[in-house]
Amino acid sequence: PTGLLADALGRPLHDLRISVTDRCNFRCVYCMPKEVFDKNYAYLPHSSLLSFEEITRVARLFVAHGVEKIRLTGGEPLLRKDLERLVAQLRELQTPSGRPLDLTLTTNGSLLARKARSLKDAGLDRVTVSLDAIDDAIFKRMNDVDFAVSDVLNGIDAAHAVGLGPVKVNMVVKGGMNDGQILPMARHFKGSPTILRFIEYMDVGASNGWNMDEVIPSSEVVRRISAEMPLTPIGANYPGETASRWRYADGAGEVGMISSVTQAFCHDCSRIRLSTEGKLYTCLFATRGHDLRALLREGRGDLEIASSIAQLWSRRADRYSETRTINTEGLTRGGSAKKIEMSYIGG
Ligand code: GTP
Ligand code: 5AD
Ligand code: SF4
Ligand code: SF4
Repeated sequence: PTGLLADALGRPLHDLRISVTDRCNFRCVYCMPKEVFDKNYAYLPHSSLLSFEEITRVARLFVAHGVEKIRLTGGEPLLRKDLERLVAQLRELQTPSGRPLDLTLTTNGSLLARKARSLKDAGLDRVTVSLDAIDDAIFKRMNDVDFAVSDVLNGIDAAHAVGLGPVKVNMVVKGGMNDGQILPMARHFKGSPTILRFIEYMDVGASNGWNMDEVIPSSEVVRRISAEMPLTPIGANYPGETASRWRYADGAGEVGMISSVTQAFCHDCSRIRLSTEGKLYTCLFATRGHDLRALLREGRGDLEIASSIAQLWSRRADRYSETRTINTEGLTRGGSAKKIEMSYIGG
């Protein structure tokens, strides 16, 4: 089966994000806080994970349904053993349109210097690196495992050197923790090949203790940068892009704002997520997934699985970020233990 699927709100399916592990060697305060993700935390057992063959089979069906962009995430995807083998398998997939599949990966950068070359050789197109501060002490407070900025910067350099660029850097801005780093980060990457993007801290998952008081709206980020380094808005690269783009008036490159709290972008969200254990989620804020692994392991055929995917997408009406309401305590409804964690579903 080929052709474009549309969901209940008319949105096409374009982007598949695959989480390859629920583990991470960082403990970012907004994602895997130490109090929750301690040594007693129950990560998925190896037998629960989709194998590379299972992932590739699912990905092939999605590509047949019109997906042209695949992103590997986690947890920290580079912790999954032999990830290059998966990259090579995915690289082989052919889109019905004949356009090349965009194959990318989101990483914390800690293992990137070591792995950039083999990832490129396996066929990866690009990487996105998370980095929340350029000051070592603040970065260490954010990752909470004493990881140094210079190691991440080395990873970014290695990615550029082997042709995995232009690298995008994602900075989650958490008010009171690292918002003082907005300008230092902008200054650091201005004029370099790296594209810096600021992300509003989101109420994703159920363990980060999110509060609206700690969200710095993108409009404020733009205001602070513009005061020193004037910015002008530019158009999107493609429909459904998460970031709005701004270029430096002096021509020294661009920055992006991912404003999922103050300026939601659900109206053209074309993303679906495959969790580490093979559940499909039609929204980052979903509370329930659709168990594909069961179908795979029951021996169902490609046609049946493909039609189950098509049905799921055609019924999809998710638009959490457009409908969330924030009460006077700064909290959102549904902040219950039910929302799935970002480390499980993938950023
Ligand atoms: P590019 O192809 O480089 O433009 O990547 P991308 O923006 O599609 O993906 P990336 O992984 O860089 O996403 C950046 C961040 O945006 C993620 O880590 C999330 O914090 C956020 N994000 C991505 N997709 C969604 C989404 O569907 N909903 C919400 N609310 N946030 C999202
Ligand atoms: N809010 C915004 N982004 C988050 N990420 C994880 N947790 C959050 C959150 N609460 C994103 C970051 C990181 C990626 C792996 O996941 O972008 O770079
Ligand atoms: Fe790990 Fe990324 Fe989550 Fe940080 S944000 S804990 S690096 S998965
Ligand atoms: Fe898409 Fe859900 Fe994010 Fe909205 S909140 S952009 S529907 S993943």
